[in-house]
Amino acid sequence: MQSHGRTWSEWRQFFESRRKRPLPVPDGASASKDLPRSFAESLAIFQLGESGGGTIIEQARASQLPGIDADYAEAMALFVREENRHADILALCVRELGGELTEQNWTARLFVFSRRLIGLRLKVLVLLAAEVVGICYYHILASRLPEIAMKDWLTELVADEQSHLDFHCRFLNSQTDRRWKCWVFVFVWRITMFLAAVAVLIDHRGAIRDLQISKKAIWQRWTTYSRRAERLVAGTRSSVLAVG
Ligand SMILES: [Fe+2]
Ligand SMILES: [Fe+2]
Repeated sequence: MQSHGRTWSEWRQFFESRRKRPLPVPDGASASKDLPRSFAESLAIFQLGESGGGTIIEQARASQLPGIDADYAEAMALFVREENRHADILALCVRELGGELTEQNWTARLFVFSRRLIGLRLKVLVLLAAEVVGICYYHILASRLPEIAMKDWLTELVADEQSHLDFHCRFLNSQTDRRWKCWVFVFVWRITMFLAAVAVLIDHRGAIRDLQISKKAIWQRWTTYSRRAERLVAGTRSSVLAVG
């Protein structure tokens, strides 16, 4: 079965099966210390964004929305736990790079503010934008690294974020059962994704420059995954997709 088609019970079991994965062991590769300082600073910002997330679990548990159940809420709790594991892995990366963790950052604050401001559906939409950003950014960062353990860690994060994308799309698909809801989703989604992408390009410009990442390549990758998410949520129910 494709991951997008899983029932909530199957999603809960899926996250449960990954719950006990140990944290990776640092290899102290000396090559890590040669990487630009801006790389550690960039990962420290993502580390902040991957932390927290407890309120959405309570909201999922209390939600009366159609199409979800207790298994969804428990899958959400396990998903948040997985994101917190990402924060731990990114903290390891930052230390390996000789950098420092950060407690304050404007894009991380904006992300947290967006998650707190709004109901479960919009919160999940914001999380979905973060998954698309993470999938593309971690992948490109990993591709710039020499053969050190950190490359595998970031590649594992990309695989996790891809399953998170399917998890959130499955939820949003269950909430867009009418054509007009699909239109609203596509409209809000494209604006959110655009703003998230611009914010990352500005906030992480140092690492993007120092690691010689092409802005065009990263934008194209974001667009590809953004449209993929759109198709998983709205399918053919929105005629907007035909011209998008
Ligand atoms: Fe993550
Ligand atoms: Fe994620």
